[in-house]
Formats: sequence, structure tokens, C-alpha cells
Amino acid sequence: MGRLVIQPALYAGEVPPGKSVLQVLLELRAPMHYSCRRGLCGQDLIRVLAGGEHLNPVGDLEDGTLELLQVKGQPYRMACCARVVGDGEVVVEVV
Ligand code: FES
Repeated sequence: MGRLVIQPALYAGEVPPGKSVLQVLLELRAPMHYSCRRGLCGQDLIRVLAGGEHLNPVGDLEDGTLELLQVKGQPYRMACCARVVGDGEVVVEVV
């Protein structure tokens, strides 16, 4: 099971496969804007601080949104799309 750290000081622990960063944030009742949960609305941008290689690949919808937000190719993901895969540790920051 992978490990996820959400800064600033929101979460540090294991996450089951398939659970998105947004799902973790919502369970924590963290203040987070979101709407579509499909990578389209661009409201739940997070910055990947470490371990990005342990996240699932960026899909087409999310990729287009990251491009619109002018962060494509940079260490950013939409929280609703980002999931830890494998046993690695990922550190993200709510922006
Ligand atoms: S909730 Fe819309 S992009 Fe994540």
C-alpha cells in the first residue's frame, strides 16, 4: 500500500490503491474546492513535491486541464485524478 503526505500538515499515512488525493482531503474535511471529480474543472490543483513517479499517469482530460492552467509539464496534478500506485511515498501540497 502506498503512502501519502499532504501538506501543509493535513495528512500522512497509507492510502489504499484507487483512492484519490481528493477523496483523502474530503474525508479529512479539508477546505478544498472541487466540482467535476473528472479532471475537467481545474478547481483542485495540487503541487507534487516528491514521489511523483508513484502517482498514476495523467489522463487526457486532466492533461488538457493542466494545459489550460498553464502548468502542463510541471509537477502539478488535479487532486481528483491523482492516485498513489504501488508502495511508494508521494508528498503533495494543496495550492
Ligand atoms: S474536481 Fe474538477 S478537476 Fe478535480
